[in-house]
Amino acid sequence: CGIIAYLGDGETVAVLLEGLKRMEYRGYDSSGMCVITRDGAKLEIEKQAGKVANLEQAVAGRNFKSNASLGIAHTRWATHGPPTAINAHPHASSDGKLAIVHNGIIENHSSLKKKLSAMGYEFVSDTDTEVLAALIRHVQSLEPNLSLAGAVSLALTQVRGAYGIAVVDESKPDVLVGARRGSPLILGVSDDSLVLASDATAVVGLTAKVVYLEEEDIVSCQREHDQETGKTKYSFSVSSMKRDSLLVEAGETSAAGGDEGADQSAGVFSSEDEGPMMSHKLDSRIMRQMTLSNKAISGEVIRQMHELKMNLQTIEKGGYRHFMLKEIMEQPRVLRDCMRGRLDPLSGKVTLGGLMPALDRLAKARRIIICGCGTSWHAALVGEYLIETLAKIPVEVEYASEFRYRNPVLFKDDVVIVISQSGETADTLEAVRVAKKHGCLCVGIVNIVGSSIARETDAGIYLHIGPEIGVASTKAFTGQVMALSMFTLVLAVQTGALLQDEANRLGLELAEIPDKIARMLNEDTLNKIQNMASTYRYAHNFLYLGRGTNFPVALEGALKLKEISYIHAEGYAAAEMKHGPIALIDEMMPVVILAPKSDVIYEKVKSGVQEVVARKGSVVIITDEGNHDLDDLAEFVIETPITSEYFSAMITGIPLQLLAYYIADYRGCEIDTPRNLAKSVTVE
Ligand code: G6P
Repeated sequence: CGIIAYLGDGETVAVLLEGLKRMEYRGYDSSGMCVITRDGAKLEIEKQAGKVANLEQAVAGRNFKSNASLGIAHTRWATHGPPTAINAHPHASSDGKLAIVHNGIIENHSSLKKKLSAMGYEFVSDTDTEVLAALIRHVQSLEPNLSLAGAVSLALTQVRGAYGIAVVDESKPDVLVGARRGSPLILGVSDDSLVLASDATAVVGLTAKVVYLEEEDIVSCQREHDQETGKTKYSFSVSSMKRDSLLVEAGETSAAGGDEGADQSAGVFSSEDEGPMMSHKLDSRIMRQMTLSNKAISGEVIRQMHELKMNLQTIEKGGYRHFMLKEIMEQPRVLRDCMRGRLDPLSGKVTLGGLMPALDRLAKARRIIICGCGTSWHAALVGEYLIETLAKIPVEVEYASEFRYRNPVLFKDDVVIVISQSGETADTLEAVRVAKKHGCLCVGIVNIVGSSIARETDAGIYLHIGPEIGVASTKAFTGQVMALSMFTLVLAVQTGALLQDEANRLGLELAEIPDKIARMLNEDTLNKIQNMASTYRYAHNFLYLGRGTNFPVALEGALKLKEISYIHAEGYAAAEMKHGPIALIDEMMPVVILAPKSDVIYEKVKSGVQEVVARKGSVVIITDEGNHDLDDLAEFVIETPITSEYFSAMITGIPLQLLAYYIADYRGCEIDTPRNLAKSVTVE
């Protein structure tokens, strides 16, 4: 899901729509917005099922508040209730005076709903978010003098679960409040506006100054008219709702003052799981006690201002029909970005600044456990192969979701590496916390700068591949493998498994990868893959086979096809074919085989090809440039530039990305926004 909220002098509706479109890749079954004008008029909400374009049309159709100067908007990926307009956000309180957008899940929403219903609150949707709107409104009715931030923080003490929220109140047209726990939220700051967003892409173009809100932060944004200068002034203040909130280092431009001053405070109430509401009736007496304790301890915190390095160009399609194709084609450039300043192109030596503080501990690791989800998990499998072979440290790879829940046996000298493009995947973030609880060093391989995982890990490597918008991950996989490759070379030297010279030789080979990919992505290759896609577009099943580092590539190739073309596909370790999947092979089953000649069991892979052909399977071969051994057996052969077997995943994966892309395109699928998927899964 995506949140954007705006308090500013600009065209609110247009700003919100643009932000929603940019975030549509995060989740997109419905969307909506709520706007407020400064003239005391009622807040207005518009919601639509389907894409943001539907909302845009609806808004244009009814000439929706063109003079609004405050608004919140949301693009939704359903967690509670079907994706209808009613369930879309924003959700208003039943009196229509307060509205909220929310990412995440309120776990105790049904018991809250029951209690609030008993008190006369009405609900029209199936969502947990609407309950939160009613709860805040209820707090306001008990404590009418509270600031909006005060009421929100008090209401949040009753809530179990995860949230990133933005809240507006019709009677406060100059105040916007946001809060986060377990779901990202950033604040964009400029002279004439303040923006809250769950995703940096929504802020780009409005301002480059951002504050990454931290867990349990609540921010109050405010607009004031300065009598002296006659100008409008925007300010914000951040408070922590953590009981033990500490002052953090001062930022350059943190503006003072907050929403109506007096009650600006950190929520420091009971944070026990159940919350007072679970064990007591929510009555005014209890709420009042809590408010008093709230007032007693104020926890305003100062958050550092950061410079957003994204620009509009990096988040636009740049002439391609889809983000996915753009992101596939830009892989040579982004891999160079990933290596820049880290891999010396002359000597081949790799230096990773973000790992420095952890290198000693890393080299002494008893074992490395790599966690991730989806594509990141596939990259982790490549990492396992690289680290064990080159750095000689035992590695285990786990789905973050399994790792966090199965009480893993961890030792203090284990190192946990987490891989996540977004840096926000809920399960992966939780894996970080599990690792740290056990005293393990935790290293992040993350793309999004300032994301939760980047901030919670002890050390790490940013991918520096730019924003990935297409839901199906492409350049992130390649970038993750590049980061893991550089990581392995640094680690292998540190452990003594490789001499610096040997590592440098491999480094030089890594440095050539981008040029090799660029050479492969020529018109001939694209035409050939398009041709293949046209041949196979009606297939119902696909099999992908590979071994070594190409086994995860086979898994990733199958995942790509499933995600965007909805064709069932499976990836298998090549030699496993005999143990089951071979039974499926017939003339209706295309089999994609990754068969680089550098493979130590290339001859065996070759006989596997013969077995498929004997069963009338249609074979696609991905092999080294100049290898024509298999031309007679295969329907299609894609030749890929030769590199060391350690690094070939970065090259061989790309034709499979293109194959999935073109098949989905022939089938008329929504490539960048496939059904039921979200780019960033911040719920469990
Ligand atoms: C979702 C996305 C996948 C991604 C996975 C992990 O399922 O659709 O493309 O691989 O999450 O995301 P992360 O941001 O942690 O790499």
